[in-house]
Amino acid sequence: MNILVTGGTGYIGSHTCVSLLEAGHSVVIADNLSNSRKETVNKIKEITNRDVLFHEIDVSNKDQVKKLFSNNKFDGVIHFAGYKAVGESLDLPISYYSNNLFSTIFLAEACINYGVRRFVFSSSATVYGDNQAPFKETMKLLPTTNPYGSTKEMSERILTDVAKANSSFSVSILRYFNPIGAHQSGLIGEIPKGHPNNLMPYITNVAKGKFDKLFVFGNDYSTLDGTGVRDYIHVMDLAEGHVKALESIDSGVEVFNLGTGQGTSVLQLLKAFEQANGLEIPYEIVERRPGDIATCFADTTKAEKHLCWKAKRGIFEMCRDAWRFETQYTD
Ligand code: WQD
Repeated sequence: MNILVTGGTGYIGSHTCVSLLEAGHSVVIADNLSNSRKETVNKIKEITNRDVLFHEIDVSNKDQVKKLFSNNKFDGVIHFAGYKAVGESLDLPISYYSNNLFSTIFLAEACINYGVRRFVFSSSATVYGDNQAPFKETMKLLPTTNPYGSTKEMSERILTDVAKANSSFSVSILRYFNPIGAHQSGLIGEIPKGHPNNLMPYITNVAKGKFDKLFVFGNDYSTLDGTGVRDYIHVMDLAEGHVKALESIDSGVEVFNLGTGQGTSVLQLLKAFEQANGLEIPYEIVERRPGDIATCFADTTKAEKHLCWKAKRGIFEMCRDAWRFETQYTD
């Protein structure tokens, strides 16, 4: 199939392009490069030895989306493009709502107008809010604590309503947990812009000497060691889950958790990183980060059953691959 990947030069998008190409599909990337590099297209080609088309466009611009669909015949869309920093979204709600919602709306509209019936949407476990883990797809969603999370929940609703009104339009909504790691070649990985917000990029920056130590946001949560527990999933497992979801799309809308079903605390991840790479990561316990929840991990039975997909890479492999990319990456 010929697949449009929006945000395809980004962290999860680029890894998914690799998996799509390795599964025999062809890929067209649309990205405005606001949080990624065009160089990543060449890395994808180098890893897969396959050609990839790239268009530098803003998918929140209706005319640019229309032109893209009029010049290409797509069999499906995987929509990653969007702003994704939780903290930033609290300061820039209008940018987040307009960028993230207009891109979803214009892409769905183009799919209807050009007869593209498969749409995979990059959503997030953030939509569950402070529910009781393990999170199940059938759970009632609780209000999210930030505009970023709201744009994911609203996009899910928009796509669900569009699918209800157009029987030829089918959607697979994928709720990610905490993607970390990198392709085993070390050629692509997570390139955070500016100061990293997420845990793993911060750890690799400490390992590289960019920061003196990791600040652990609170150790008074009701978890095994008091620090936050999350479901870390290797980005290549996540990428392979997207290919399975795209190929399994049938009719209507399906929602899937893409996680491992395992919870890992901050200190457990820190220790795993140290052991996997033979490094020492100094840290200091500080105050909780506002908006954080104690425990978040997935119930993965639906994806295992319906997509015949299960994450297979462990924490050590995630830590080794993340560090390999960090040591090979040059600005
Ligand atoms: C993980 C744990 C922190 C940094 C966010 C988004 C989510 C998704 C993934 C987009 C928490 C602790 C972190 C640090 C720390 N993004 N931590 N020191 O918050 O679970 O999820 O990223 O889809 O939508 O909400 O990920 O990596 O920021 O934090 O102690 O310097 O690490 O408190 O317990 P999070 P995270």
